[in-house]
Amino acid sequence: MYIQLNDEQKMLRDEVRRFADEVVKPIAKETDEKGIFPTDVIRQAGEMGLTGVAVPEEWGGAGMDVISYCIVVEEISRVCGSTGVILSVNNSLVCDPIMKFGNDEQKELFLKPLAAGEKLGCFALTEPGAGSDAAALRTTARRDGDDYVLNGNKVFITNGTHADVAIVFASVDLALGHKGITAFLVPAEIDGYSHGIHEYKLGVNGSGTTELAFEDMRIPAAFRLGEEGEGFKVAMSTLDGGRIGIASQAVGIAQGAFEEAVQYAKEREQFGKPISSFQAIQHYLADMSTELDAARLLTWKAAWTKMNRKRFTLEAAQAKLYSSEMAQRVTNLAVQIHGGYGYIREYNVERYFRDARITEIYEGTSEIQKMVIANWVLNQG
Ligand code: CAA
Repeated sequence: MYIQLNDEQKMLRDEVRRFADEVVKPIAKETDEKGIFPTDVIRQAGEMGLTGVAVPEEWGGAGMDVISYCIVVEEISRVCGSTGVILSVNNSLVCDPIMKFGNDEQKELFLKPLAAGEKLGCFALTEPGAGSDAAALRTTARRDGDDYVLNGNKVFITNGTHADVAIVFASVDLALGHKGITAFLVPAEIDGYSHGIHEYKLGVNGSGTTELAFEDMRIPAAFRLGEEGEGFKVAMSTLDGGRIGIASQAVGIAQGAFEEAVQYAKEREQFGKPISSFQAIQHYLADMSTELDAARLLTWKAAWTKMNRKRFTLEAAQAKLYSSEMAQRVTNLAVQIHGGYGYIREYNVERYFRDARITEIYEGTSEIQKMVIANWVLNQG
């Protein structure tokens, strides 16, 4: 197997790294501390094609491949986890399912502006009583003539505060369990759509997490994404792609923390010499570097599988599980190498440590990834 980025991917990485260092990084601390949604950064990212990386150009995207998408999320997350997840959600949880399940009218109306960064999307699956057990959702969609009428509540919706479009999952018949779940494209300005509280979180504070409430929200049947009852599969296959995005986010956060730790270890002197000369610190850095490479390779393998095979459920779950847990270990060691300075806000590793934590939770917890992997190993392999 030959593992090397091609020239286009290398150019993209350099361009996105420059954008991340020059535009995203200078405001990353403030984005986190004040919980500010980085609207202007996302607008600029859209102009660069980063809001629809793998969407074909005819539908408003950059027309690149899935590994390029991983590079974008990693490079942005290397300086700001909040901006990383905002882009990941728009790319893989919103543009991707419209590409896959949408018809041409829906692509024209929704995908084009979302991929071009003129609009922002969110993915409304989770409910107060339906987190890991996504099929237990209670939002309903009642058919009424040419419309559906939706009622229900969603929680923990990333981008929810600023999204113009939500992909909403609701049941046309609760008695059918997951076979009743149906996906809808919902413009946020529609009557009956409202935001609940804006959540204050441990990390990724700029990503605008909110509740959504739908009260007698009338959606044209033309905005149904896929068939009635196909929504659970839309959600699950979309999350397979989303998990590659979160794996990339975890790799990016860990990479950022690692670079800060290497720099600090070279500069910080104790006992009359740089702490990088101590074997304990060297072993930490060796472990961090090795685990980072392993996670990145698993993530790119999942991306490669997505580009080459119909199902990539196993590879995406493995990449997300390993990368998110790696990010905990690497950011933890980055704090440890910084000692007391790692625990204060002035140093970025404190933010990386907090931002890494959510990667083990959203888009399927580590426990859910293990369930998916075990199911694949035992029943599908
Ligand atoms: N692709 C396509 N179809 C799939 C699939 C996949 N990856 N996974 C399951 N399915 C299909 C199955 O084939 C099955 O189809 P049939 O009815 O035709 O047999 C159907 O879906 C039901 O499958 P299961 O019986 O396996 O479903 P389950 O109810 O046991 O749930 C689960 C499986 C893996 C636990 C799933 O509920 C899950 O992934 N839960 C976690 C939810 C999650 O990740 N939430 C994240 C919210 S979004 C978010 O976090 C975004 C954000 O803000 C950043």
